[in-house]
Amino acid sequence: MRKARSRSATAVIERLTRATADLDPPLAAIDMPTLRANAADLIRRAGSVPIRLASKSVRCRTVLDEALTPQRALTLAGAGGFRGIMSYSLREAIWLAGNGHTDILMGYPTTDRAALRDYAAAPELVAAIVLMVDDIDQLGVIRGSVGNPELRPRVCLDVDASLRVGPVHLGVRRSPLRTPAQAAALAAAALQRGFDVVGVMTYEAQIAGLPDTRFAVRRLKWASARDMLRRRGAVVAAVQNVAGPLEIVNSGGSGSIEVSVADEVVTEVTAGSGLYVPTLFDDYRSFTPHPAMYFATSVLRRPAPGIATAFSGGYIASGPAGDSRVPQPAWPPGMKLIASEGAGEVQTPLTGGKAGELAIGDRVWFRHAKAGELCERFDRVHLVEADGRRTTVPTYRGEGQCFG
Ligand SMILES: Cc1ncc(COP(=O)(O)O)c(C=O)c1O
Repeated sequence: MRKARSRSATAVIERLTRATADLDPPLAAIDMPTLRANAADLIRRAGSVPIRLASKSVRCRTVLDEALTPQRALTLAGAGGFRGIMSYSLREAIWLAGNGHTDILMGYPTTDRAALRDYAAAPELVAAIVLMVDDIDQLGVIRGSVGNPELRPRVCLDVDASLRVGPVHLGVRRSPLRTPAQAAALAAAALQRGFDVVGVMTYEAQIAGLPDTRFAVRRLKWASARDMLRRRGAVVAAVQNVAGPLEIVNSGGSGSIEVSVADEVVTEVTAGSGLYVPTLFDDYRSFTPHPAMYFATSVLRRPAPGIATAFSGGYIASGPAGDSRVPQPAWPPGMKLIASEGAGEVQTPLTGGKAGELAIGDRVWFRHAKAGELCERFDRVHLVEADGRRTTVPTYRGEGQCFG
């Protein structure tokens, strides 16, 4: 299995190298056959349940559109396919809606009053975008910003999907809503303030975002999945009791699709990282990682035998600072970062493997730890097809868009 994986990684890197040979790094590239295979694999894992695309994990409109092409759902009979976007900022959602997207769920609350005013001023934005809430004060910010008391913003309730073992909290710190009664109370408050409650989201980060590297993690995931199976249904029933039938019961991420679709109350799952497959997604039991996105920099110096120093590369990912957030050299194989310097602001020394054989100007390929964040470092990304054809498209940053 590992051998097969490294053979296909070799073919991918060779293709990317050939297709971008005339360009000067640093550059970012995506292998489109791998990206499409990853999209098909996410669809296969989700079965008949549609997948909402997490835009934060993509940050390039061409790639969002590629995944959302209607034909993609037809690659597997009866598959749900990709449908709609989960947006991470209301400004982003407004921009995407302005570019033709009509089904956007905010993944997080917003306090951007100017963006809320713009949203409220355009009926097509109100129709396209569902806001996320988990606190009565967020309802107050929305109401205070939108002005028009007749306007009925559509909202989804984010319900905490972390696992509690006694006093221990295992998962992320997001929503304060946990019990069916708490969710129903916020739904009632929202209705009373003139909102339409259309959905519930439960994002089980401790399943979706943790690689299966240790037995303890696998136990935790199993316990979480059982807990959510029990709790999600009760939360949805309680909210529906107050708000009527819900359009959206969203759950999961690239790492937890199977667990989410196993619950029949779930109407859709979210995924994004599974398209690019960054290093944080290397050790999941639920799928075999096939990286589609890489970045390249060039060797500038050879400070000592066995060491080559490449330009830039210190594109550290968000999350708890540590080794898992650092880009990893992927090609030539076997190289590693030097502990005292890591991936640097403008210089990244590499050792091991063929580092000592690299010449000035040779290219080194890296993988980022997270999916969309690499796009914040590059204005454009090169999309490479199976026949080596290259299309260069802007990232969000290349379109002058930076949402945080
Ligand atoms: C609310 C929410 N849903 C889903 C996801 C999963 O996204 P991905 O598939 O990129 O891991 C995330 C990621 O952080 C998230 O915050």
